Amino acid sequence: MTVLVMGGAGYIGSHTCKALKKKGYLPVVYDNLQNGHRWAAKFGPLVVGDLLDESLLDQTFKAYKFDAVLHFASSIDCRASMHYPGSYYQNNVVGSLALLQAMQKNGVRNLVFSSTAAVYGLPETDKLKETHRSAPINVYGNTKWMVEEMIHDFERAHGFSAVILRYFNAAGADLDGELGEAHSPETHLIPIALSVALEIQSHLNIFGDGNAIRDYIHVTDLANAHVNALEWLAAGKGPMTFNLGTGKGHSLLEVLQMVEKISQKPVKRKIEPKIQGEPPSLVADPTLAHELLGWKSVFSDLETIVSTAYHWHSKPYCIKEGK
Ligand SMILES: NC(=O)c1ccc[n+]([C@@H]2O[C@H](COP(=O)([O-])OP(=O)(O)OC[C@H]3O[C@@H](n4cnc5c(N)ncnc54)[C@H](O)[C@@H]3O)[C@@H](O)[C@H]2O)c1
Repeated sequence: MTVLVMGGAGYIGSHTCKALKKKGYLPVVYDNLQNGHRWAAKFGPLVVGDLLDESLLDQTFKAYKFDAVLHFASSIDCRASMHYPGSYYQNNVVGSLALLQAMQKNGVRNLVFSSTAAVYGLPETDKLKETHRSAPINVYGNTKWMVEEMIHDFERAHGFSAVILRYFNAAGADLDGELGEAHSPETHLIPIALSVALEIQSHLNIFGDGNAIRDYIHVTDLANAHVNALEWLAAGKGPMTFNLGTGKGHSLLEVLQMVEKISQKPVKRKIEPKIQGEPPSLVADPTLAHELLGWKSVFSDLETIVSTAYHWHSKPYCIKEGK
């Protein structure tokens, strides 16, 4: 099977390409490299281009005859999305519409979409089920929710079949050490804490008391779920939305303790006022993915997450680039 991996030079997309290649798929990455890396797109052909480049997108569909599309490409920073809503709606919503239209035009109907726990907004229950009401509280979450709705409209009107995967907090790095997180600027907790421990950065800003709880899911577990999702679609099982998390939350302070344990270095920190409106806790109920998709997290204990990330972040950049 040949699959289009939109945004496949990024963090989760590149790990997914590795998992796909292992299973015999040909992953064709299409990425504008705005936040992705050429060195991360090494598991199949790379097309450098933008989601909004209608003509290149169409040429790419015609050149490869895809069996399915995995759509990772997006602007990803919740806080930035509140300052630059126009750019977030343009890239995430208009960009996704361009992709759906290219799929429709070229007769490709199977899609796996990277959504997020941010579509839920403030949780009303300890663990979030897929049926929890969606009420995003930031622009990023809004964009993902809008794309989910667009996908459902294409399902109804054009016979699309999509698996929507709502990731909780992606973390960790490839178990063989050949891929990992490399965002610039970095906004995720574990890479920042590690760069403080490794003395690349002076300190970590903590907004609030450090008790905010998140469900950290190893990026290799996420990658493997995409293989299950493609198998689900190939078996004609139809549209479905799944949470991808562990069902277990960790506080920010627990994560920092683990970073200090693994690195044997202190994580210097500066306490800043709490940011209003951020959920105190976001934890998945992953039962549906366990029962229907046959997927379970295997590498998502905090120690494996932090130690694989530590191994990756300790490498000099030139080695990451394969030079
Ligand atoms: N990282 C997380 O914890 C997390 C959690 C929930 C959901 N997600 C979602 O998962 C997906 C992947 O996240 P990630 O952390 O790997 O992000 P990432 O930024 O590393 O990867 C996204 C990739 O998409 C590319 N891209 C963005 N806009 C593009 C465009 N217009 N045209 C072509 N390429 C474009 C970027 O260059 C990048 O390589 C995103 O959709 C994100 O919203 C991530």
